[in-house]
Amino acid sequence: MRVLVTGGTGLVGRAVGSTKPPGVDAEFVGRAAGDLRDPAVCHRVVSRVRPTHVIHLAARVGGVQENLLHAADFFRDNTLINVNVFEAARLANVRKVVSLLSSCVYPDGAALPLRESDLHAGEPHASNFAYAYAKRMLDVLSRAYARQFGMTAVCLIPNNLYGPHDNFDLESGHVIPAMIRKIHAAATQGVPAILWGDGSPLREFTYAPDLGRVLWWAVENYVGLPLNVGTHEEVSIRRVAELICEQLGYDAAKLEWDASRPSGQHRKPTDTTRFATLNAWNLTPLATGLRQTIDWYVSQYPNVRGVTPPNPS
Ligand SMILES: NC(=O)c1ccc[n+]([C@@H]2O[C@H](COP(=O)([O-])OP(=O)(O)OC[C@H]3O[C@@H](n4cnc5c(N)ncnc54)[C@H](OP(=O)(O)O)[C@@H]3O)[C@@H](O)[C@H]2O)c1
Repeated sequence: MRVLVTGGTGLVGRAVGSTKPPGVDAEFVGRAAGDLRDPAVCHRVVSRVRPTHVIHLAARVGGVQENLLHAADFFRDNTLINVNVFEAARLANVRKVVSLLSSCVYPDGAALPLRESDLHAGEPHASNFAYAYAKRMLDVLSRAYARQFGMTAVCLIPNNLYGPHDNFDLESGHVIPAMIRKIHAAATQGVPAILWGDGSPLREFTYAPDLGRVLWWAVENYVGLPLNVGTHEEVSIRRVAELICEQLGYDAAKLEWDASRPSGQHRKPTDTTRFATLNAWNLTPLATGLRQTIDWYVSQYPNVRGVTPPNPS
């Protein structure tokens, strides 16, 4: 088995790298290896690596604000990347492609907990509809390439991810890295930590290296319809902030909540029943995953994605 990991330099790609089973031959590619939106470049990357399996993670990913401002870019970039990767994989006789969707692409207002069978059963949330439709097409590509070319292709649907190598930019990053950055700054520089919303929404958070292990398992073992993966434990944003405060030695009573900022949907749990029956996963508890993420952030600061811009050279 030789595995190509697209998006191998991102949050999930680094987690897949840190959980790679011993002896597996894998190559991790980021944008520096080639822009996968370009079919010729994508074909060149896949032909050079000559994989038997692809873990396809490359995507244009962003926060609410970016999705609102660049809807067309999110649709075009993700659609191009996905179509190009599937076609290049087919031409290279790849045996299996494992791709990632996201629980945020489910229909807005779908019954809770979110079930895989409802993936296409309605419009996504208006804030990220373009990204969501592009990601949903990975399921269409997987089924179409299986039907026409006999290629095995499966999609996993993780919920909110966090971990080392996340994006800590306050505009484009997700909620956990943003809160770690703000509370770390409050603890070390005495600036106020102003968090968005009122802290009441409930979310499921999966530690990215756990998803790494799940992806390696899926490469070897999973064939079937899109599968919700990850923790099913819901926790409030406020509780996550308190855990981060505990770990950074900051008094949570001093946190300021800016309720004029959107809090988002109150809860959107996923149904992970099928996932839970497939293996004994032993997922990382939130407090432990946060500890490891914060330790990593503190040890790397300020040379962290989103904090210090990358060197253009
Ligand atoms: N983060 C989450 O909470 C979350 C939740 C559910 C699902 N997911 C899914 O997980 C996957 C990975 O996300 P992530 O959080 O790891 O994102 P990320 O940290 O932003 O990483 C994105 C990866 O894609 C690469 N990439 C982006 N545009 C590219 C292009 N045009 N050509 C080639 N490579 C390109 C990036 O390369 P560079 O590093 O070189 O820029 C990077 O390796 C995505 O499919 C996403 O939809 C993420």
